Amino acid sequence: MSIDQDLKIAVILGSTRTGRFGPVVADWLLGHLVAREDMTADLVDLAATPLPTVFPSFGGELPPSEAELLAAVSPRLAAADAFVFVTPEYNHSFPAPLKNAIDWHNQQWHGKPIGFVSYGGLSGGLRAVEQLRVVMAELNSVTIRNTVSFHGAAQAFDADGKPRDPAAEAAAKTLLDQLAWWAHALRDARQTRPFAA
Ligand SMILES: Cc1cc2nc3c(=O)[nH]c(=O)nc-3n(C[C@H](O)[C@H](O)[C@H](O)COP(=O)(O)O)c2cc1C
Repeated sequence: MSIDQDLKIAVILGSTRTGRFGPVVADWLLGHLVAREDMTADLVDLAATPLPTVFPSFGGELPPSEAELLAAVSPRLAAADAFVFVTPEYNHSFPAPLKNAIDWHNQQWHGKPIGFVSYGGLSGGLRAVEQLRVVMAELNSVTIRNTVSFHGAAQAFDADGKPRDPAAEAAAKTLLDQLAWWAHALRDARQTRPFAA
């Protein structure tokens, strides 16, 4: 693979709530990704592609209907060079469907970088992000230092889906620049030497 090949970024939208605000945030981020020449984006919307919530026994097989649900998500995570989690904060953490999507997978996360765009009430989703850093370290991922966060999310965007605070655009650029650095470095490293878990 050429070192110049576009980075494949899977954007995982962690909120599945009816009437959720998440798509406004995800669409804004996707706008940034589409505008870049070094990245292609795949939106993994956990509402559109729900995953089973009951795990099989160790070594057990999934019923075909559940295997089909996983097949709509797992290959896309495997193909990604890097991820951005778009997550709200629910009770000082991140939503259960996002944890479910994380737990269904393992190697798909290994040796890959993850950036965060969070939103919520007073905290801007930052407590959800801090918890995600701990979880994703267990899955051999690298989390990106800089984040983008929106406090009082519903008021933070205008009717066109643009953040009212122009600083958000610069924050998104910094996040994606850092993600690109890690994604290139880790993709090169995985090609040189397969990740040993
Ligand atoms: C079950 C639940 C728990 C929440 N807990 C928090 C919280 O702990 N801290 C916070 O800042 N906002 C909290 N909120 C507010 C949400 O972060 C905010 O409404 C956000 O827009 C929800 O994302 P969604 O609309 O995409 O589902 C909570 C919302 C819900 C539904």
